[in-house]
Amino acid sequence: MDPRRPTHRWRAAGRVDIAAVACRIAPSILSADFAALAAAIETVKPETDLLHVDVMDAHFVPNLTIGPPVVRSLRRHSPDIYFDCHLMMDNPASFLDDFKDAGANGCTVHVEIGGTDDLIAQMRELGLDVGLAANPDMPFDAVEPFLDKIDLLLLMTVFPGFGGQAFIADVMPKVERARAEIDRRGLRVALQVDGGINEDTLPVAAKAGADTFVAGNAIFASADPAREVQELRRRCMVTV
Ligand code: DX5
Ligand code: ZN
Repeated sequence: MDPRRPTHRWRAAGRVDIAAVACRIAPSILSADFAALAAAIETVKPETDLLHVDVMDAHFVPNLTIGPPVVRSLRRHSPDIYFDCHLMMDNPASFLDDFKDAGANGCTVHVEIGGTDDLIAQMRELGLDVGLAANPDMPFDAVEPFLDKIDLLLLMTVFPGFGGQAFIADVMPKVERARAEIDRRGLRVALQVDGGINEDTLPVAAKAGADTFVAGNAIFASADPAREVQELRRRCMVTV
């Protein structure tokens, strides 16, 4: 497969190699109209590589969003999309099987909460793709020991909790370091950035080595969300 050619569709059934192609765009439904989520997803579906679902517990982050029941409903509506569930939670261990059962393909837990080895083992056992996230102020050394056990590394480019925040460019040296280490070890780990990604900041992150881009506000606040996804992908493709 041409590594630059994005696969626009992710199979819900079966194992999907989430590091197989460059320039994956992950629309974040956090910025969509929660009263019309299915319609919002419909608008971007043909262009969506991963659908990013932000789960916030009001403890790990100062905001409260959605959980497994909503994922289950969305799964019924969208059987073919890859659901990338970003768990901004203190106790994801208690909910991982619910997310899997509801239709998540991959879950991402934060390294800040600890117990990472056990959480990785639990996700593997459940057959979930394994994501590990780090906030902007976490050093690369905090995630480095887990690199060969995960499918996706999420380096936050905002402090999580809310959509529409400004991209923190200071995270880019960490992205560069992660890219170098992933390549040096020949790992198939998706390198995701999340927060403040738009037409201007995406190329900055792509240049640093990110290959998977979460975007909420840039996509769902635009007049034509599908076109915006295309444009974000185009900007990645011309950068890498
Ligand atoms: C932030 C969330 C993000 C958020 C990104 O806490 O993890 O996924 O939806 O939104 P934008 O793209 O608007 O910064
Ligand atoms: Zn997120």
